[in-house]
Amino acid sequence: MAPTPVDRNRLWSRLDDAVAKQGVPLPTPVFVVDLDAFDANADDLVRRAHGKPIRVASKSLRVPALIERALAHDGMSGVLAYSLREALWLHDQGISDDVVVAYPTVDRAALAELVASPSAAAAITLMVDDVAHLDVVDSVRFSPVVPVRIAIDVDAGLHLAGRTVGPKRSPLGDVGSVLGLAREVVARTGFRLVGAMTYEGQVAGIQDSVPDARVRSAVLRRVKSMSIRQLAVRRREVADALGSLVELEFWNGGGSGSVAETAADPVVTEVAAGSGLLVPTLFDHYRSFEPRPASYFALPVTRKPAPGVVTVHGGGLTASGAAGPDRLPTPWAPAGLELTGLEGAGEVQTPLVGPSADGLGIGDLVWFRHAKSGEVFEHAGTVHLLAGDELVDAVPTYRGCGQLF
Ligand SMILES: Cc1ncc(COP(=O)(O)O)c(C=O)c1O
Repeated sequence: MAPTPVDRNRLWSRLDDAVAKQGVPLPTPVFVVDLDAFDANADDLVRRAHGKPIRVASKSLRVPALIERALAHDGMSGVLAYSLREALWLHDQGISDDVVVAYPTVDRAALAELVASPSAAAAITLMVDDVAHLDVVDSVRFSPVVPVRIAIDVDAGLHLAGRTVGPKRSPLGDVGSVLGLAREVVARTGFRLVGAMTYEGQVAGIQDSVPDARVRSAVLRRVKSMSIRQLAVRRREVADALGSLVELEFWNGGGSGSVAETAADPVVTEVAAGSGLLVPTLFDHYRSFEPRPASYFALPVTRKPAPGVVTVHGGGLTASGAAGPDRLPTPWAPAGLELTGLEGAGEVQTPLVGPSADGLGIGDLVWFRHAKSGEVFEHAGTVHLLAGDELVDAVPTYRGCGQLF
């Protein structure tokens, strides 16, 4: 069951009380992660993966302590990173010795570090979908002594009437093209083909049970089931063809919104997930799981412009992607507040309207949820960790560690 207004008001008291118990004022915005919800979400992801390991999508966390906490869960293993520089840092910090970089890199400086470090090269896998990606690696090394681990990204979109529905990523959507690149990797000195990936974003990352968009949701559910059926055939064909060339260590697939469906494919050996740990608003309204939000940020009321309106300081923590109302932060606790159509989430201040406005005073906190999972922490140096009713720890984000990936 999605949180009710009563749940949200209880949460409001819990968060406000936890902040008050600190005894010292916390700088705003205050970022809080509810560890009880985080751990329950981790258990739920593992349960849905039916025995296949979950690889932690670090872009959806961006807080080293939370990546470590996820990795400490039984059933979670390895990191799916979003940049090579990040992967090198995670390895250097001792956070993981099994990091797959999910997106191709042309960062020559980072590649030069990788090929100069036998231990980093043994821990990190690069994603490729083009011979040019191999050429860039070769351009930074003078001796192929340290083999570079390679995985191939296979297009996982739904191929329909000459078009592809799904993320526009890998151009490799059939056996011939995947095998062509795989042969090139195997033939080149200094590379080891160890894995493959299929990210079916049109299944894993699209809400399909939105109460006020029932028809659209029904259509999307159909697209999802067609995608799953079609992709199972493509994966099997590609896996059989690759099997004649090399024995892969892993086949990564899926995301938080498709854990059970992706894990059910016998070709897939592990499922990626990150957003399902923090459950931002874009991960509400999925048929496949119950949302248990775990991440909030608080902004203080600084003005009361008129009855029924409060203005909070800050607010424009919007999410990336196709711009639309669903990318805006949501005033969450107390329940009964909304952004205005005219100002939305503002650059330095945000008006909020609704029945709860008049109950708030200057200095009170309003708690928001972000639309995306890890991206919000690009605005934060520190995240407070809530266990039960107490803030038990304060940990740095990537930004707080001085890292910008
Ligand atoms: C390659 C890849 N795998 C998995 C995911 C799923 O991540 P999450 O579980 O945070 O949605 C993504 C998200 O964009 C991705 O790009």
